[in-house]
Amino acid sequence: MTSFFLLLLFFLVGMCDVQGASDFRICAFNLQHFGESKSKKSDVMYTITRIISRCDVCLLQEVRDSKEKALPQLISQLNRYDKQHQYASVASERLGRSASYQEQYVFVYRTDTVTVTGQYQYPDDRPGDVDAFSREPFVVRFRAPKTAIKEFVLIPQHTTPTNTTKELDALYDVLQDVKRMWRTENVMLLGDFNADCGYLAKKNRKNVRLITEKNLVWLIPEKTDTTVRSSTSCTYDRIVVNGETFARAVVPSSAGPFNFQMEYRLTEEQALEVSDHYPVQVLLKNKAFSEKISKFLFLFVLGHLAFQMLTT
Ligand SMILES: *[C@@H]1O[C@H](CO)[C@@H](O)[C@H](O)[C@H]1NC(C)=O
Repeated sequence: MTSFFLLLLFFLVGMCDVQGASDFRICAFNLQHFGESKSKKSDVMYTITRIISRCDVCLLQEVRDSKEKALPQLISQLNRYDKQHQYASVASERLGRSASYQEQYVFVYRTDTVTVTGQYQYPDDRPGDVDAFSREPFVVRFRAPKTAIKEFVLIPQHTTPTNTTKELDALYDVLQDVKRMWRTENVMLLGDFNADCGYLAKKNRKNVRLITEKNLVWLIPEKTDTTVRSSTSCTYDRIVVNGETFARAVVPSSAGPFNFQMEYRLTEEQALEVSDHYPVQVLLKNKAFSEKISKFLFLFVLGHLAFQMLTT
């Protein structure tokens, strides 16, 4: 009888492991001028905290925290709000062509599911290259052992609306450099690309290698609205993955905007106090199912052996 329960126990432990873990969420959120004044509005900070705590990794854009207080406040608020996880951040320098307008890229991530294994600030001027970006990508490599892909690189970009076509095309060069530097195909590009409506004319799309090259999958469906204002409907915010391995590691149809206004029952005015953009998100699959099955079988066999030992 004891051994029967032992067998049952092993079986249940194995099943839990197969079904237990939840999918891994990557987000990108243009916080529209996140700095001192937003950090002083407690309802706004609460909403931002709830949004970010849904993500294993969240790229923040338009962080304009010159006093360097708003971001630390956000991280400590996250850690108080969500006791299940620990949050940390890694931030770029202030980036921008003019001294008076600068932004930082910030990745907020859960330290219990993700580790930062590399970072690289794309240079302003490379030899033989014009200064392509207002805000050069701050490229970060992450290890996430529980995902099917295990390690991946994120290339963030918040384009300048008036230079969208050129900057998106230049991102293709960044992708090639990053692939060479870290010898990996597992790269995702994400952020407020301004890749729609008046900023990216249909006739220009054929000149953007990030769009025309095969091998790249644009995950946010065209015509989905990533803007909060009911008067606008544009797919500005995007998530793009490079290569088949990464594309296969993505949960099908999981990419899209997170409509926090509807989700948290805010008025348009309340939502606009948070940002004029929705975050966009995508889920990564868990560690290969087959790996779990073999672990389960191992436990099962172990259980069976224990059963035999106890009955002889
Ligand atoms: C657009 O790109 C050009 C050339 O790289 C640059 O000189 C110009 O300042 C950019 N415009 C903005 C608004 O950043």
